[in-house]
Amino acid sequence: MRPGGIMKSSSIDKKIKTAVLGATGAVGQVFMWMLQDHPWFETIHITASSSRKGKVYGDEVHWVVPQEIPQSMMELELNELDIDKMKEEGVEIVFSAMPADLAAIWEPKLRDAGFFVFSNASAMRYDKDVPILIPEANLNQLSMIEEQGYPEKGFVVTNANCSTTGLAVALAPLRKFGIKEVNVSTYQSVSGAGYPGLSAFDITDNVIPFIGGEEEKIVVELKKILEINPTVLPFCVRVPVMFGHLEAVWLEFDQKVNVQDVLDAWKGFVLTDPALPSTPVQPVVYLNQKDFPQSKHAFYGDPKGMVVYTGRIKEMDGRIGFMLMVNNVVKGAAGGSIQNAEAFVKLKYGK
Ligand SMILES: NC(=O)c1ccc[n+]([C@@H]2O[C@H](COP(=O)([O-])OP(=O)(O)OC[C@H]3O[C@@H](n4cnc5c(N)ncnc54)[C@H](OP(=O)(O)O)[C@@H]3O)[C@@H](O)[C@H]2O)c1
Repeated sequence: MRPGGIMKSSSIDKKIKTAVLGATGAVGQVFMWMLQDHPWFETIHITASSSRKGKVYGDEVHWVVPQEIPQSMMELELNELDIDKMKEEGVEIVFSAMPADLAAIWEPKLRDAGFFVFSNASAMRYDKDVPILIPEANLNQLSMIEEQGYPEKGFVVTNANCSTTGLAVALAPLRKFGIKEVNVSTYQSVSGAGYPGLSAFDITDNVIPFIGGEEEKIVVELKKILEINPTVLPFCVRVPVMFGHLEAVWLEFDQKVNVQDVLDAWKGFVLTDPALPSTPVQPVVYLNQKDFPQSKHAFYGDPKGMVVYTGRIKEMDGRIGFMLMVNNVVKGAAGGSIQNAEAFVKLKYGK
């Protein structure tokens, strides 16, 4: 399948028709919020579980995102997964916010049917020819879509697990120092478990020192994304906040690195090429306030929720420590996927 649109340098002639799979979930809702006025993408097809088939989005969604509900999406009709219907409607780009078990079945089928799939699910992240793409960190890995057969065929591009994403962005400009060891403890928000997610009985007034599969994902994904092989030592903890994952990070480097070296690397980490609508110019922002960053800053930044915030940097025993905060449902999920699709459109679509 060859896409029909024609790219200009900073705009496209015609918006590309897109679908959001799992549009009623926590991540799906963020897709709907971020795509409502997107300059390149037009959302024409949405799905949820089959019991919602034929009902309209506005009647079915239980809106949990702390941003205004996208009025222009309210009348869209919900579908069950139907590849033929998506083809007939002219969908080209598919954003997937499906549970991993469903993604494992459907994403290969969608790729085989010629769609350009940008997925949040873990199902295909570890396939050899599937990138875990973060434009700030590994844009070169977008070329893996050619290993999957693009432009003659469709492809799947994944984004990382939400806590890995924040860590990978903060570490991307530090790779030049040689990262020997990454020691990370996460404080992850409730929205990371989806909606309705955890029972209020379990998480209210509580902290849970276990998130199934999360620590393993950080170890594998960080190495695949950054193409480095440090020792990675994670602990992942669920805390009773709604949005935004906080992470305490200690790094050991191959060479002598001081606090100023790290601050300079983050400050000099500016992304203007390729210019993408959803990529912040300064992807990592360090602030000096002694109690920064906090989860309640999750929707700060421009674009909202796409900046990784760092703070509290210090040097102890030859290691550098700092705190970071990533919006798990925006940069760590839907926003990351949209950014990946933008990178594809800018660099590969129609070429
Ligand atoms: N939450 C995060 O911070 C985060 C971050 C990164 C990646 N992810 C990944 O992103 C994906 C979505 O996560 P989420 O947190 O948005 O989950 P969620 O809130 O549980 O949403 C799941 C979505 O999938 C739909 N769905 C469930 N079962 C279905 C079925 N049998 N057939 C068709 N649709 C079905 C749901 O529709 P109904 O509403 O009709 O049930 C809903 O729209 C997961 O793979 C997750 O691991 C999540």
